[in-house]
Amino acid sequence: MVTHAIIPAAGLGTRVLPASKAIPKEMFPIPHRFGDRYMLYPMIHLIFDTLYKVGIRNFCFVISPSKEEIKEYFKPDQEFIDNLIDLGKEDEAKALREFYDRVTHCKIGFRVQEEPLGVGDAVLRGKEFVGNNNFMINMGDDLILGDEGNVYREMIDIFISKEVDGVVLVKEVEDPRHYGVVIGKEVKESLYKVEEIIEKPKTPVSNLAILGIYVLKPWIFHVMEEMRGSGGWELTDAVDEMAKRGEMLAYKVENIRRIDIGRVETYIDLFKDIKL
Ligand code: UTP
Repeated sequence: MVTHAIIPAAGLGTRVLPASKAIPKEMFPIPHRFGDRYMLYPMIHLIFDTLYKVGIRNFCFVISPSKEEIKEYFKPDQEFIDNLIDLGKEDEAKALREFYDRVTHCKIGFRVQEEPLGVGDAVLRGKEFVGNNNFMINMGDDLILGDEGNVYREMIDIFISKEVDGVVLVKEVEDPRHYGVVIGKEVKESLYKVEEIIEKPKTPVSNLAILGIYVLKPWIFHVMEEMRGSGGWELTDAVDEMAKRGEMLAYKVENIRRIDIGRVETYIDLFKDIKL
């Protein structure tokens, strides 16, 4: 079982300014079905729901000092629900009530990253929260559209059945220069043994791009602490080191649509297929 998750959400979001000056990008609205209609959900709500579906009950959100809204959003607010019911907003009341029910069944922690020193530094803030438990990382701006947790479930199954130190999610992309990429040997269809991870390769060494979703053993925190002393490092550097000291698999997904709200083009793309 994997029951813990860290959600880094403390970045500046410079690529989606000026909106991200006013609203954390992790709270940007995403259209999502509720029964036969669409509602707008904050991204982080959908990430929480997806992780909840696959059994995660301990959530550590890493936020910056200016992102208190995220913390506020996870505080059950019965008075607000009562008002919605008085206004005849049954669906909206139901959506929020169900969300709060899930929240109250979870341990939710917040850690503050004072300065945006990178995703690796953000994840390290969750070390005490995670303790000796295996855990997932889900970037606060990344999700698989309409997947209902299936890919996450598959990643967890691989992690447990293959008894590996970690599973990273990858997807083939045409231009890997903006991603961390995996170099590895295919051991089974869609499954690669990670040999090396290269962050933003200048030459196209592999087109297996890492998406922001991982399942990991907690000893990665020791690797991170070792790296912390050595100046600039990325989460992918720690994952690369873990792959070299232990065993890491990359799970390749196809035909999925990512919700990537970190860039204007991909955020706008989300609304393209919506038919009301
Ligand atoms: P990104 O690198 O995509 O986000 O981080 P960013 O730095 O906010 O965006 P730009 O490049 O300025 O546009 C992926 C996730 O990791 C979090 C972000 O909030 C995002 O959800 N993150 C990033 C942190 O928690 N801390 C950081 O120092 C950097």
